[in-house]
Amino acid sequence: MKESTVDNKEFTKLVFATNNKHKLEEIRNLALLHIQLLSLQDLGFTGDIPEEQDTLEGNASQKAWFIYDRYGINCFADDTGLEIDALHGEPGVFSARYAGENCSFEDNMKKVLLALEGVENRKARFRTVIALVEDAKLTTFQGEITGVITRTKQGLRGFGYDAVFLPDGFNRTFAEMDLSEKNRISHRAIAVQKLIDYLTIRYK
Ligand code: IMP
Repeated sequence: MKESTVDNKEFTKLVFATNNKHKLEEIRNLALLHIQLLSLQDLGFTGDIPEEQDTLEGNASQKAWFIYDRYGINCFADDTGLEIDALHGEPGVFSARYAGENCSFEDNMKKVLLALEGVENRKARFRTVIALVEDAKLTTFQGEITGVITRTKQGLRGFGYDAVFLPDGFNRTFAEMDLSEKNRISHRAIAVQKLIDYLTIRYK
């Protein structure tokens, strides 16, 4: 969908199907393209977007298609999970509610540390999948960062599993880094950069 603007350049509308203001801001800062980035709020959408799949790819795609089908505007959505080798990829797609519905980040980290008690192999990765539905065509972008799960929580910053994730090549957990440092190396930053690179070629 294209629209003229005051300076006569064509801007393409693109929705980021998220209710997370931080994610939206992160992308808005990066996107200096001929794209008018819209939020769900801009669309007047206040409901829940279904996330019923059992993979990150499935959920990201379901969210993007849901908004595309409803509004007919190109759309992207993301989904992230922490995949722990010794737990066969868990919590993975269930990362947000690993310790149960309405659980806290604390509950989730406690559950991970308990599940890994006495376990030597502590390898894990954060993986983000972004699904872009553009003119009824799906393209996905993936970002991942490998690391290990610490034996105790370290650091007070961040969110989710940050205090138990030590990225490879660093001696501080994500929760001990300041946001700009984390954002330079994170799974989400890598996936977002791939999306931006793709959009830059199409809409510069
Ligand atoms: P979402 O798909 O971005 O909502 O992420 C799902 C869940 O994964 C979150 O509720 C967090 O528990 C976890 N998560 C996602 N990204 C991060 C991160 O950068 N650090 C720590 N945990 C994260």
